[in-house]
Amino acid sequence: MMKKTVIYAFALTLAIGFTTNVMAADKGPADITLQATKDAAPKPKPAAFPHAKHQATLACGDCHHGKDAAGKQVPYAEGQKIEKCETCHNKAAGITNAKVATFKDAAHTKCQGCHKDKKAGPTKCDGCHK
Ligand code: HEC
Ligand code: HEC
Ligand code: HEC
Ligand code: HEC
Repeated sequence: MMKKTVIYAFALTLAIGFTTNVMAADKGPADITLQATKDAAPKPKPAAFPHAKHQATLACGDCHHGKDAAGKQVPYAEGQKIEKCETCHNKAAGITNAKVATFKDAAHTKCQGCHKDKKAGPTKCDGCHK
């Protein structure tokens, strides 16, 4: 009797552990210091980004997206490979929209755009560049 209960409990723990492992998407680091490495300014200007704080109220697809073979933006879909902004947003990668060709410009458009729309979050330089 005891033995059976122990075995069941063990099996249940395994089952729960397995499902949460399969379902938990990689959410990335909780806090990120963003710094351009390509097209970088002569003087580095890192930006603080509280990732987890944003994840608490926003959807992954509010910020993340992908690119298709023709170079067009594709919306985020669950399970999509998430890459660094700079992988696509750098001058050599040839983004057609010149307004978001660099990491700096893509980030300023995305970050400040949302902060302005929602009237929340910093829009002044030192709010992100501490
Ligand atoms: C407010 C915007 C925003 C939201 C919402 C957001 N992220 Fe991110 N995430 C970022 C930025 C910016 C980075 C840093 C990218 C870089 O280093 O270029 C990042 C980085 C990551 C990384 C690490 C990528 C790498 O290669 O370094 C993962 C994984 C990730 N996010 C997953 C998620 C998931 C899953 C969600 C939804 C639960 C999510 N993010 C929601 C903006 C966001
Ligand atoms: C896999 C490649 C890829 C990655 C990674 C990527 N982007 Fe993009 N992004 C694109 C493409 C392609 C476009 C469309 C550009 C065009 O119209 O020429 C785009 C457009 C944009 C735009 C303008 C349109 C819009 O959606 O507002 C912004 C802003 C932007 N990206 C920000 C980001 C940020 C911030 C990150 C990192 C969190 C990121 N991108 C990661 C490929 C990528
Ligand atoms: C889609 C909307 C959205 C995007 C995109 C976004 N933010 Fe925010 N951000 C917010 C909101 C909303 C808040 C206010 C959250 C709060 O005060 O609880 C915020 C707050 C912040 C704060 C202040 C956090 C604090 O503890 O006071 C920083 C710093 C910040 N954002 C940086 C960034 C950076 C850097 C990016 C781009 C990589 C970015 N955000 C992109 C919506 C966004
Ligand atoms: C909402 C957050 C946010 C605000 C506000 C903001 N920036 Fe940024 N900025 C970023 C992010 C994210 C990057 C890309 C990562 C990095 O710092 O290299 C960036 C990049 C830069 C770069 C390139 C840095 C480098 O190392 O190549 C410069 C220069 C810059 N910003 C200047 C400014 C100035 C000046 C202001 C105010 C007028 C400002 N930023 C406001 C988030 C912000």
